[in-house]
Amino acid sequence: MRPHLLLRRQALLRLGRLGSLAAATALPVPALAQLREPGHGGSWEPTRGQAGKDVIWIPTPDALVQRMLQMAEVQADDHVYDLGSGDGKIAIAAGRAGALATGLEFDPRMVELSRRLAREAGVHERVRFEKADIFEADFSKATVVTLYLLPELNLRLRPRLFELPPGTRVVSHSFGMGEWQPDERSRIGSGELFLWRIPANVSGHWRFNAAAGSGLPQSMQVRQTFQKLQAEASDGSLTAALIEPRIDGRTLQFGLRDSAGRAVKLRAEVQGNRLRGSYQRGTAPPQPFEAERTGPPDTIVGSAYVEGGT
Ligand SMILES: C[S@@+](CC[C@H](N)C(=O)[O-])C[C@H]1O[C@@H](n2cnc3c(N)ncnc32)[C@H](O)[C@@H]1O
Repeated sequence: MRPHLLLRRQALLRLGRLGSLAAATALPVPALAQLREPGHGGSWEPTRGQAGKDVIWIPTPDALVQRMLQMAEVQADDHVYDLGSGDGKIAIAAGRAGALATGLEFDPRMVELSRRLAREAGVHERVRFEKADIFEADFSKATVVTLYLLPELNLRLRPRLFELPPGTRVVSHSFGMGEWQPDERSRIGSGELFLWRIPANVSGHWRFNAAAGSGLPQSMQVRQTFQKLQAEASDGSLTAALIEPRIDGRTLQFGLRDSAGRAVKLRAEVQGNRLRGSYQRGTAPPQPFEAERTGPPDTIVGSAYVEGGT
């Protein structure tokens, strides 16, 4: 059975639709041959499909690991956290790419194995492994989070992921995040990967700091569901929906049509309760603008975990 199907099956097992977890274990493991070669040391060897605290161990295939790092655009200044790190291969690959990496793994034998493999790969100074429960551990330093878990575990983690700074990338092998649609997808063979960038929270009421005649509205009201925005701007008498509002990490972009009917394009960086950026009316040169949030932001709709929800 293909690995992601095995994990899907475990998801179904957890929902009580199939038999026992034991049925989902003990597969042949060509990829593990290298772990059993002389020189790798240690008497204990992992078995693909072995039980884990909340999900069994199946390693992500190498080609998918590389693609996960590409999708997250991992660079030397990143700190990659693999939650449920198994034999450590994602963290080790991130270390090979020059990044700092931390693997959090509940099974102490896998932690020991990962540390040994990191030393053998010569990346042990950048890559470390902790024996930890991913639901209790601190991964707030992550700039990239990688996951190969189960759908309901992704959903349990989702509120924690939304606490990470805007722009943090999250890549998941096989499983989505419920209604939070990915920003990017890749498929290699039967393996599927999803990428999300944590959006800044731009919900709430904003007041523009703009001179009369600038073409900018006085205010705007934004409602945010994950990275999707619904927003309208008002200049007192005229209220109009923003055109294609988008938040990507901290970068907010949208268009509007001013009261004279001219198209205006805006782009700004979100800095807490401030927006700083530029706007362009038609073909005129870009002009700077600022806006300020006048009250507290709302909770991003959907970012909180709801038991049994999506
Ligand atoms: C499907 S494997 C993925 C391994 C690795 N991330 C990869 O993609 O190759 C999931 C791993 O999560 C670990 N795990 C399960 N529940 C966990 C928990 N609550 N905290 C930490 N690790 C956990 C398992 O022991 C297993 O090694």
